[in-house]
Amino acid sequence: MKIFVATHNKHKLEEIGAILPGIEVIGDNPEGVVEDASDFAGNALIKVRAIAKRHKGDWSMADDSGLEVAALGGAPGIHSARYSGEPTDSARNNALLLKNLEGVEDRRANFTCVIALVGPDGEEYIAEGKCFGRIEKALAGNGGFGYDPLFVPDGERETFAELGAEKKNVISHRARALAEAKKIITKGKPAV
Ligand code: IMP
Repeated sequence: MKIFVATHNKHKLEEIGAILPGIEVIGDNPEGVVEDASDFAGNALIKVRAIAKRHKGDWSMADDSGLEVAALGGAPGIHSARYSGEPTDSARNNALLLKNLEGVEDRRANFTCVIALVGPDGEEYIAEGKCFGRIEKALAGNGGFGYDPLFVPDGERETFAELGAEKKNVISHRARALAEAKKIITKGKPAV
């Protein structure tokens, strides 16, 4: 079995490959698509549909993810990558997030990842994963990417950037969404 993924991000392809052993994971670029949906699922569907038309008879998938902060009404949400403007700059995004949470006691936040799938017969599925936690008052750690130096998952004392990839890849929103996606793809049967 093989699955086409709407990304050329090597890290994402490796992570998906590790969670779907025995399935060949192949990147494909959804070039030219405009991600203008109002939620993660809509944007993931836009991306997966763009590549699935080239891969009839096989599985295709795309993901969309971001950080949602309770005290900010769910922002930055679907705007996570470009929260502080273009081009994407994680340091600037984190600085803006800290500024917008200055003096705010409610630090609750969650990451969400939505994976859209198109099956061999064109059927569409959605898998979602969330990771709840809180936003720190200062950056901590060098690992990961994006908002990782500010996000402490529930049950932990360190940020995702301090915890490291091995721990993050077990509890993250992306790992949880991929586990759901795996159930859909394998329909409860082992992938190998
Ligand atoms: P994408 O869906 O992978 O493009 O992620 C969109 C944006 O959400 C990223 O640019 C990050 O700002 C943020 N984000 C998504 N997942 C994570 C994560 O695991 N850690 C930190 N930031 C993330």
